[in-house]
Amino acid sequence: HFKPSNINTPPVRVTVTGAAGNIGYALVHMIGQGRLLGPNQQIILTLLELPMAKDQLEGTMMELRDCAFPILKEIKGTTQYDQGFMGCDIAILVGAKPRGPGMERKDLLAANARIFKEQGEALDKYASKNVKVLVVGNPANTNALITAHFAPSIPKTNFTALTRLDQNRAQSIIAQRVSANVEDVRNIIIWGNHSTTQFADVSQATVQQNGISQTVRGLVADDTWLQKAFVEQVAKRGGAIIEKRKASSAASAASAVCDHIHDWLIGTDNGTFVSMGVITDGKLYGIKEQVCFSFPCVCKDGNIKVLEGFQWDQFQQSMINKTLKELLEEKEMAMSVVVSK
Ligand code: NAD
Ligand code: LMR
Repeated sequence: HFKPSNINTPPVRVTVTGAAGNIGYALVHMIGQGRLLGPNQQIILTLLELPMAKDQLEGTMMELRDCAFPILKEIKGTTQYDQGFMGCDIAILVGAKPRGPGMERKDLLAANARIFKEQGEALDKYASKNVKVLVVGNPANTNALITAHFAPSIPKTNFTALTRLDQNRAQSIIAQRVSANVEDVRNIIIWGNHSTTQFADVSQATVQQNGISQTVRGLVADDTWLQKAFVEQVAKRGGAIIEKRKASSAASAASAVCDHIHDWLIGTDNGTFVSMGVITDGKLYGIKEQVCFSFPCVCKDGNIKVLEGFQWDQFQQSMINKTLKELLEEKEMAMSVVVSK
């Protein structure tokens, strides 16, 4: 174990919902290992669960304590929103129903949208006004939009949805295709929704090999594969995992959560951007409506900056239109669920 060396820095309060579930179980252990904010930042970790999962919650906490992770200054477990979110600096909202074989993520809207209304309201009441929120529970983008909507006292820029898993998947597929190290593949963009309409775009992507930076398009030299088979493989990876595992991705999702929060709060590397679902402000890329859309982003000092100015050709524009259309439909469906409650 690393020992925390900057013990003068106040501990950061992190809350994980659904902490005893499939992803939560993997995630809380990664957090204990220092994957969120590095090995020197102490954390007060709160695990929030449903009353019916109380035993699994207690068992998860027992194991977490048995790991004796030095950075975990305190480990708390609760089934109450007030205790779960009080003073929270980072909220990772995982707790929600996962899809099964043959379902689309948006089929979960009716079941999950209410959870995010309640959690938005609870964050608004109890969390730090500068809380950084990452929504993982599906459909993640629309749930993030709902959470933000019901937490009006927290800036919209503090709410994000996880599309880093899609980015990591895309990076790994390209690394295998061109026989490169995965960390040398940079700047693939995931545009739009964490769903089968998402667009994994390699137009800005590069691969560093033997000290030389080359474009992915140049190296792969097969635009048909890049625009079709590759995009589809990334978009349908979650479904393919469900078919094989009979459960949705867990460790890879937890790992992507750590990458997302780490880059948001510690900062992105020079010359590298990452994909995050952020809430549109009516101006970004000309998107007038408020949706949670995944864009290329850079982060510094805990602030996310969406990289603007990439020009889209006809193919890119049609892919963006499709994913935006789906997000608008999801928004309408979700609002009808949470408003009619
Ligand atoms: P799971 O069923 O194994 O675990 C979910 C846990 O959440 C359960 O323990 C449940 O008791 C808890 N829970 C439910 N409602 C809650 C609430 N209101 N408050 C607190 N806890 C609550 O599911 P999982 O495999 O861990 O997946 C969780 C969610 O994450 C699903 O919606 C899944 O589709 C989604 N997911 C998203 C991504 C992504 O990249 N965005 C990746 C994988 C999974
Ligand atoms: C994933 O991408 O693995 C998750 O969103 C789970 C799912 O339903 O595909």
